[in-house]
Amino acid sequence: MKCVKLIGKRQFAVSEIEEPTPQEGYVTIAVKKAGICGSDIHYWDIGEPKGLVLGHEYCGIITNPGNREDLKVGDRVTALPISPCMKCSACLKGNIQYCKETWTYATGLSLTNPGALAPQMNIREDMVLKVPDNITDEEVAMVEPTAVGLHGIHLADIKVGDKVLVIGGGIIGLVSAMFAKKEGASFVAVSETNDLRAQKALDLEVADKVYDAKTDISAQIIEDTHDGFDVVIECCGNDKAVTSAILATKPGGTVVLVGVSMVPITIPTVSVVMSELTVKGAIGYTKEEFAMCIELMANQKIDTKKFISDIVSLEDVQSSYERLTSGNDDAIKILVDPNK
Ligand SMILES: NC(=O)c1ccc[n+]([C@@H]2O[C@H](COP(=O)([O-])OP(=O)(O)OC[C@H]3O[C@@H](n4cnc5c(N)ncnc54)[C@H](O)[C@@H]3O)[C@@H](O)[C@H]2O)c1
Ligand SMILES: [Zn+2]
Ligand SMILES: [Zn+2]
Repeated sequence: MKCVKLIGKRQFAVSEIEEPTPQEGYVTIAVKKAGICGSDIHYWDIGEPKGLVLGHEYCGIITNPGNREDLKVGDRVTALPISPCMKCSACLKGNIQYCKETWTYATGLSLTNPGALAPQMNIREDMVLKVPDNITDEEVAMVEPTAVGLHGIHLADIKVGDKVLVIGGGIIGLVSAMFAKKEGASFVAVSETNDLRAQKALDLEVADKVYDAKTDISAQIIEDTHDGFDVVIECCGNDKAVTSAILATKPGGTVVLVGVSMVPITIPTVSVVMSELTVKGAIGYTKEEFAMCIELMANQKIDTKKFISDIVSLEDVQSSYERLTSGNDDAIKILVDPNK
């Protein structure tokens, strides 16, 4: 069957992969929609591992339910893409997101488990969640990034009335801003280098104000908050963004680092020390948070459809990555339909 493979630095090719065969512990799905994620872009940027079939955010239809007696052919599902061992102390406490095995065989992020940039795939049966009929395929493909935002928000522990800054207006940043408002923040700002994405954060009503991250925003922060933000959520993962997150936080405040950097970065630790900041990392989500996002969508408590900018074919994956990294396009989330 057709698929998209990573073949080099910032290079994909439409290619062929064998259809998945029944595998113990796995179910098989026909992929309906797959999301392109900021994390996928890091893999594309470095071009490794070659042969990787990306796609860890998806909606699919069960074609083989494996051992899952509660599932049948035709059921619509999504899944956590991760591969926790379920035996270590983290897994036994429900913190599967920091199990050492979690990313080793992750679907769409490892060579062993090809992802959703293909019409069919195998997924670990214990990670699969059935979705209700009243959410669209597109929304189902948005569950994974929404759960990332929700996990960061849970760690941020926002209090009603807090002022919150989100650095980076990609999907993770915008979902985080959306949840910050829901948590009762009195003021939510988004800082962005891409003017079109910044405007989108205002148009989609997830930000009260946007800052141009290409400029020095410190005077505006003082004007808007007096002594800095109570909570800053960093959703870019580069050193400039992490530094600005630390500098924008008020003494005693909290910084949540959601952005991922593949290389070590330097931060002004003196500001962390002198302002007694709490700096937390946030990775993935728990299974409960994943299920919670499905419920929030089904009960129409959140609208994530508004973040979807386009739905493209496998042939258009390469140009979509170029578009998402151009810095001058307003697209937020691009979905791929492998049957288009
Ligand atoms: N921790 C996790 O579990 C987890 C999960 C998913 C994604 N991520 C990471 O979160 C980050 C965001 O993901 P995304 O899908 O939204 O990515 P994205 O690339 O779409 O968004 C990042 C945005 O940050 C902006 N930006 C870059 N430098 C900036 C700066 N200095 N100040 C302000 N804005 C800046 C970019 O213009 C872009 O719009 C990525 O690093 C991704 O790998 C982490
Ligand atoms: Zn993702
Ligand atoms: Zn484990």
